[in-house]
Amino acid sequence: MHQFAFVIHPVDVKRDAARKYPIAKYLPERWVEQLLMRKEPMVVSRITGLQSATGARAEGWFIGCPLSPRMMLNLPLEFVYQKIIRCGEIAQELGAEIIGLGAFTSVVGDGGITIAKNLDIAVTTGNSYTVATAIEAAVLGAEKMGVDIADATVAVVGATGSIGRTCAEALAPQAKAMLLLGRDATRLTPIAEQLRTVARGEVRVSTELAQELPNADVIITVTSAVDAVIYPKDLKSGAVVVDVARPRDVSVRVARERDDVLVIEGGLVEAPGEVDFGFDFGFPPRMAYACMSETMMLALEGRIESFTLGKEVSLQQVQITQELARKHGFRLAGFRSFERALTDAEIEAIRLRAGRTTAINYSKVRT
Ligand SMILES: NC(=O)c1ccc[n+]([C@@H]2O[C@H](COP(=O)([O-])OP(=O)(O)OC[C@H]3O[C@@H](n4cnc5c(N)ncnc54)[C@H](OP(=O)(O)O)[C@@H]3O)[C@@H](O)[C@H]2O)c1
Repeated sequence: MHQFAFVIHPVDVKRDAARKYPIAKYLPERWVEQLLMRKEPMVVSRITGLQSATGARAEGWFIGCPLSPRMMLNLPLEFVYQKIIRCGEIAQELGAEIIGLGAFTSVVGDGGITIAKNLDIAVTTGNSYTVATAIEAAVLGAEKMGVDIADATVAVVGATGSIGRTCAEALAPQAKAMLLLGRDATRLTPIAEQLRTVARGEVRVSTELAQELPNADVIITVTSAVDAVIYPKDLKSGAVVVDVARPRDVSVRVARERDDVLVIEGGLVEAPGEVDFGFDFGFPPRMAYACMSETMMLALEGRIESFTLGKEVSLQQVQITQELARKHGFRLAGFRSFERALTDAEIEAIRLRAGRTTAINYSKVRT
């Protein structure tokens, strides 16, 4: 049986740190970050019961990296690397053969390359399967909301990023038009040029999110911003938004003020077997992030290799993880929105409020 590990870290500093240290709930965020600075990486829990549809089994550990997204972006990169490498060393000492880098531990720096060079075990960012599930959620969400991708303007926010860029590449051949959004037009433009060679329709770039987002029917948002970048006034009625970012990109105000748009959390997966994560990260039983799931499926497959490393993710890597997911029994979890499960009836109500009477047939395009 193969052994794996996965690095987790506080994403919402006060909420997540309070899971381990309840006092954190009552302290200002900056104070909690100061306390985290003094902490060392540690084992958070043992992961048991993971069993593939093939019968293969694997076990692992969550290793906690005591840094928040803001800390990882602002502290010297060398300091952050040392913390993540220490997580990997702990995993190595425990007997893990592969380690996955959760959330910002793969965002900072070079997407795991330096971490892998400093460890004797395989490292994966999990971004290939994250792309696969983001696309699947966008297509399924669009179908449920009666949006035909072939007729839709699809926006990717954070389109120069590791996950965003490949999401755009996968959807460009299907969408009526693509909108690549980010902070830096000089980085967006060459990506648009490349996509135009495969795109079905027009490909535009912009750094003006508030101005351009109201043109989008489907949005995949996956930035490394620490605060929200999408607000209620930015969304077209009936829009489908897949928020893959952690911390999330869509303001919680959207949940309160816009009952005519579907916002779903991207990258949520149901893992096979009676998996017990030994730690409550706020999901129902057996539900995991896609990046965790990539690590788990590689362990189940016995594919002990640094599968997704660096900032580039190819469509071929995405496809391989889709195949591994099917083989081992990982599947897209039911939709969640702002940390709560969404029923089909609720989605239908959103669709009707947006003035669309019919959903699209489920047998339509799949990536
Ligand atoms: N749900 C999951 O399973 C899962 C798995 C892995 C990662 N994630 C999350 O996915 C997100 C992105 O990861 P990644 O590896 O793709 O990161 P990345 O390669 O660093 O890309 C981040 C992108 O965000 C853009 N960006 C940053 N701040 C922005 C802002 N204020 N406004 C607009 N665009 C902004 C960057 O643009 P420029 O730098 O070009 O300006 C870049 O395109 C993170 O939040 C991460 O935690 C989720």
